[in-house]
Amino acid sequence: MPKRRDILAIVLIVLPWTLLITVWHQSAIAPLLAIRKVCHHLVKEILIIPERLTIHRQRLADDATETRHENGPATDSKEYCSQDKDIVEVVRTEYVYTRPPPWSDVLPTIHVITPTYSRPVQKAELTRLANTFLHVPNLHWILVEDSQRRTPLVTRLLRETGLNYTHLNVETPRNYKLRGDTRDPRIPRGTMQRNLALRWLRETFNSNSSQAGIVYFADDDNTYSLELFEEMRSTRKVSVWPVAFVGGLRYESPKVNAAGKVYGWKTVFDPHRPFAIDMAGFAINLRLILIKPQAYFKLRGVKGGYQESSLLRELVTLNDLEPKAANCTKILVWHTRTEKPVLVNEGKKGFTDPNVEI
Ligand SMILES: *[C@@H]1O[C@H](CO)[C@@H](O)[C@H](O)[C@H]1NC(C)=O
Repeated sequence: MPKRRDILAIVLIVLPWTLLITVWHQSAIAPLLAIRKVCHHLVKEILIIPERLTIHRQRLADDATETRHENGPATDSKEYCSQDKDIVEVVRTEYVYTRPPPWSDVLPTIHVITPTYSRPVQKAELTRLANTFLHVPNLHWILVEDSQRRTPLVTRLLRETGLNYTHLNVETPRNYKLRGDTRDPRIPRGTMQRNLALRWLRETFNSNSSQAGIVYFADDDNTYSLELFEEMRSTRKVSVWPVAFVGGLRYESPKVNAAGKVYGWKTVFDPHRPFAIDMAGFAINLRLILIKPQAYFKLRGVKGGYQESSLLRELVTLNDLEPKAANCTKILVWHTRTEKPVLVNEGKKGFTDPNVEI
C-alpha cells in the first residue's frame, strides 16, 4: 500500500510537469511559424519536421530513397534553424532570395514610366507598385511627379525601395480659359509627365546603343502581374494586350485574327479610334522611341480616349502591333483604382498630426 504522503508527492510533482509539457507543445507551434517566417526570405525551401512526424520518418527509413536523402550529400547543406534538432530542420538551397533580382547582362531593360501626384493614397499606391517592381529583373522606374519640386515623400520612398530609378518632376499648368476661347484648355493629367520621361530617355540613350530596352507607361492606380513584364520584354516595335476594368467593361482587348495579327479593338467606347487601347495595354521598344524623336503625347485638343492614339500613330501602324498575353486572351493588368478615403472627421483644421506622413 503506498503511503498517503507518496501519493501527494506524486500529484505535486507529476501534475505541474504534465501541465508544463502540454503548454509547451501548444506553444511550440508559434515559434515554428516565426522561424519559418524569418527563414522565408533567406532560403527557397524549408522543411519543417515537427516532432510527431519523426516517427513517420523512422518508419520510412527502410525506403531506399528516404535513406539516400538522409545520408546522401544533401546532408551537408542542412542547417538547423532551431536549437532543438527534433523540432525544425532547414534545408538551405543554392538560391538566395534578393530584391530586386540581380541585374542581368542579357535581358532588355524595362523602363517603366509612372506619372504621380500628391493625394492621400499616393504613398500607398507607390508602395504597392514598388512591391511589384521589386520582383522584376532589369527594371528601371522613371517616376515623374506632377509638382513644382520633387517632394520629400517620393524622394524617400524611392531611395528606400532599393529599385533602380530616375526621379523627375514637372508641374501641369493650372487650367485657364481665355475670354471667348471655346477650346478645351485642359492638359490631361499625366501627359506632361509622360512626355518629360520620353525626353529623358532620348537625352540619355543613343539609338546606336546595343543596350536593348522596353518602355511601358504604368500609372500608379493599376495592378500588374509579374507575367506581364516578361511578356513585354520581347517587344520588337509595339506590343499590346487586354486591360481589365476600363471602358465600362470587364476588360477591353485588341482583336486578334487566326494569323495572330491585330485587326481592330474589342471596345464599346469608340472602337474606331486608331488605337482604342488603354495606357496600360501596350509597350514600346526603346529603339523606336529613339529613332522617332518627334513622337510625344499631344498636350491639347485631344478628345477623351485619344491620348494613346496621339503617341502610337507617330510610331506604328495597326499591322505592326504584336499581340502578347497568349494572343490577347489573358488578363495581366487591371485598372483597379484605389477608393478615395473618407476623411470627414479630420475637419477643417485636421484632427490627426499633420507631421505624420501617410
Ligand atoms: C497566337 O496565334 C498564332 C496564330 O494562330 C499562333 O501561331 C501562335 O502560336 C499563338 N501564340 C500563342 C502564345 O498562343
